[in-house]
Amino acid sequence: MHGVSSASTSSSSTSSQSNSLWGGRFAAGPSEIMTRINASIDVDRRLYAQDIRASKAHAAMLEAVGLISAEDLLAIDTGLDQIEAEIKSGTFAFSSALEDIHMNVESRLKELIGTPAGRLHTARSRNDQVATDFRLWVRDAIDGQAELLSHLIATLLNRAKTETQTVLPGFTHLQPAQPISLAHHLHAYATMFLRDLDRLGDVRKRLNLCPLGSAALAGTPYPIDRQQTAAALAFLGPTANSLDSVSDRDFALEYMAAGSLCALHLSRLAEELVIWTGPQFNFARLSDAFSTGSSIMPQKRNPDAAELLRAQVGRIAGGFQSLLIVMKGLPLAYSKDMQEDKAVTFEAVDTLTLGLQAMAGMIADIDWNRDVMAAACDQGHVTATDLADWLVRVLHLPFRQAHHVTGRLVALADEKGVQVSALSLDELQSQEPRIEASIFEVLTPKASMASRKSLGGTAPTCVAQAITASEQALANLAHRFDSGP
Ligand code: ARG
Repeated sequence: MHGVSSASTSSSSTSSQSNSLWGGRFAAGPSEIMTRINASIDVDRRLYAQDIRASKAHAAMLEAVGLISAEDLLAIDTGLDQIEAEIKSGTFAFSSALEDIHMNVESRLKELIGTPAGRLHTARSRNDQVATDFRLWVRDAIDGQAELLSHLIATLLNRAKTETQTVLPGFTHLQPAQPISLAHHLHAYATMFLRDLDRLGDVRKRLNLCPLGSAALAGTPYPIDRQQTAAALAFLGPTANSLDSVSDRDFALEYMAAGSLCALHLSRLAEELVIWTGPQFNFARLSDAFSTGSSIMPQKRNPDAAELLRAQVGRIAGGFQSLLIVMKGLPLAYSKDMQEDKAVTFEAVDTLTLGLQAMAGMIADIDWNRDVMAAACDQGHVTATDLADWLVRVLHLPFRQAHHVTGRLVALADEKGVQVSALSLDELQSQEPRIEASIFEVLTPKASMASRKSLGGTAPTCVAQAITASEQALANLAHRFDSGP
């Protein structure tokens, strides 16, 4: 093969040193290519804090049940503290020969404290170790995102509160349909994000059991106390089946499914911002802090952050697909395939984290062009439904007949180049002689909006109540993301 460079040729050589943690069975070390495909340290180093936390819980349990001495425990704790400090300060030397975060930490522990380090791995395996670390990491990520999502919801509700009287056309098919309030529109997104928050809570609840102590796949002969480690790591309890425990990645999949929906909602709101801030609509203006200019067209204010949010749902939904395919058809129990779980989950969490922050930032200081929104109600006959409803309510026409009469009036208005609400009484009576002047009271956008008092409707009183209820719902969800002591 011509394309093989000298670097990759030489990389097929084997290292003479076998692995210090599991090398007993091997005479020679792996080829460099093997090391490269096998190593996950560049990705899973992000689990270091969870790995150390879980190791400390495990060591404390080993000591409590008499499997290691108090001196060993002290040495392990001190060594792990030092390792955490080294990683935090950037002085820790990560090695891909040591494959992953678990072996990097353990190997350094051995350097630091000697023999007791070798006792830490009693009654556990990397299989239950990684399952535990990754659960802890995803749980922390969920808690962080719940906070960001709550902040976004609160921001939307705050901006909505003052806009219950701000009228704009609501759209269907992106065609003007009926007048609504800006508050109603913003509150619609708040309710979507409340569902997303609730879903994160559901994911967290099912995730919140501890796999530690399942060991490689079958459990362990040592008299371990899984309740103790579960409690120390703030899990609700231990998982039920050791085989399932080391091979279950549902929690990451569920997170990415919930995250995909949240990103999808972000993308829809982002698209509204793109439409609304364009000069044709001009309903809103993003702050300088969340707009970008063009290097060639000096007049431009581009909504780049909104466009990126519109796009980035693909990364999160893609991560979900990717892990789903990794897990599909895997036999019990652990398989190395599962090492692929972390990169996509980290990517999904990072993308959504930044997206939630960017959306909250855009919404917090966006300016509404209320006059432009109101003026947009002078297009598209947005009170035509109100006219038909008046015919039903006052003249008792069947709705279908009222719809026909109104349709003819809209056609007449189009002929004259005016809105149906601007036709004269004579003109209205040309299609239905019983129409009276009182009809004009229902034909303004504000009157239309105020009339829609059905539960969940756009009338200012209804929206104000709905916002208060959402604030309460938001407060009630907070406890689902509490790790306790
Ligand atoms: N780095 C591995 C992973 O992320 C850890 C578990 C490895 N277990 C094993 N038996 N090779 O999945």
